[in-house]
Amino acid sequence: MKNILITGGAGFIGSHVVRLFVSKYPECRIVNLDKLTYAGNLLNLKDIEDRPNYGFVKGDIADGPFVFALFEKHAFDAVVHLAAESHVDRSIANPMEFVHANVNGTVNLLNAARKHWEGSFDKTRFFHVSTDEVYGSLGADGLFTETSPYDPRSPYSASKAASDHFVRAYFHTYGLPVIISNCSNNYGPNQFPEKLIPLFIHNIIQQKPLPVYGKGENVRDWLYVEDHAHAIDLILREGGVGQTYNIGGHNEWKNIDLIRLLCKIMDKKLGRPEGTSVNLVSYVRDRAGHDQRYAIDASKLQQELGWKPSLVFEEGLERTVDWYLGNKDWLEQVITREYLNYYREQYENR
Ligand code: NAD
Ligand code: TYD
Repeated sequence: MKNILITGGAGFIGSHVVRLFVSKYPECRIVNLDKLTYAGNLLNLKDIEDRPNYGFVKGDIADGPFVFALFEKHAFDAVVHLAAESHVDRSIANPMEFVHANVNGTVNLLNAARKHWEGSFDKTRFFHVSTDEVYGSLGADGLFTETSPYDPRSPYSASKAASDHFVRAYFHTYGLPVIISNCSNNYGPNQFPEKLIPLFIHNIIQQKPLPVYGKGENVRDWLYVEDHAHAIDLILREGGVGQTYNIGGHNEWKNIDLIRLLCKIMDKKLGRPEGTSVNLVSYVRDRAGHDQRYAIDASKLQQELGWKPSLVFEEGLERTVDWYLGNKDWLEQVITREYLNYYREQYENR
């Protein structure tokens, strides 16, 4: 593959995928298409922006004529599709934005790929990056496998499930060469401080309350973002057309246990007495429809393609904390008026 379109490359996971591809494949041209919503930030790619094999295009994946013209211009032979609205709490407040980006945007990209790749489906790939949240919520036992039934329960996961269904429909109906991955919760550098880990790191720095939803007993399976990027690279190169791969960290944490560990690491790094940050924990009203537990069985990916996570969580979390403490200017730059308004609406009177 020579011309690779990565959508959502200015976001959290996308920026790590773009950096990996630009560095690893100097012979390929990598085009990053991103709308630069509140979550997209070109600072994430400052270190590689001048590389000769990298280009950035600002635009909306749901804009039909624009996306068709981009395919015309660049003759992409692979798409790695990450652009999406990605935060569950925002989806509860504004579901329609999620339909626009995640459903209309994905179908629009599929249409462009289908038109431009006609006659060359054997030399092209459409990689759709999705989430384990499409499978719904687990009880105390069990893991999501690639054959778990879809049971999305938030507007975010419903929009991602719809996009997955369209991607599969284009494979079965038109033969479009697609691959899908469903990954568990990511963490690491450059994650926008609306998600649990960076939000709490930011609040601990500021000594602001840590708003734990419900009793803090929900469980998530955490994967370091660079491990996800490497899995995407591997699956794009070696995954089977029409196949789905689950990606996960074998790393389940109850929210409150994760928060206690984070508080301990932060106290140490900030030179504060142990116990300072955990005192900031404030139990607040639960998220509507809060999924209890996500956990991934990634054995297909491990057995077929030899992938496994490279980092233990304690090490990844410490690396993540170090990155945020060393990049306070990044945090300050994303704390815009939009963020402050969002924060007020989301957390005041909760
Ligand atoms: P993010 O919110 O950090 O980044 C999303 C990017 O998409 C942003 O740069 C944004 O500007 C861009 N974007 C949004 N709407 C767009 C549009 N209409 N046109 C063009 N660009 C648009 O998200 P993320 O956490 O990096 O997630 C990336 C992908 O991975 C998403 O598809 C998400 O569903 C999936 N995923 C995320 C996680 C996770 O834990 N974050 C886990 C599994 C899967
Ligand atoms: P989040 O990072 O939003 O990811 P997702 O909901 O997609 O898994 O949330 C992770 C967990 O942390 C989830 O159980 C909700 C919880 N949470 C809080 O308790 N407080 C918060 O302020 C946020 C953002 C999340």
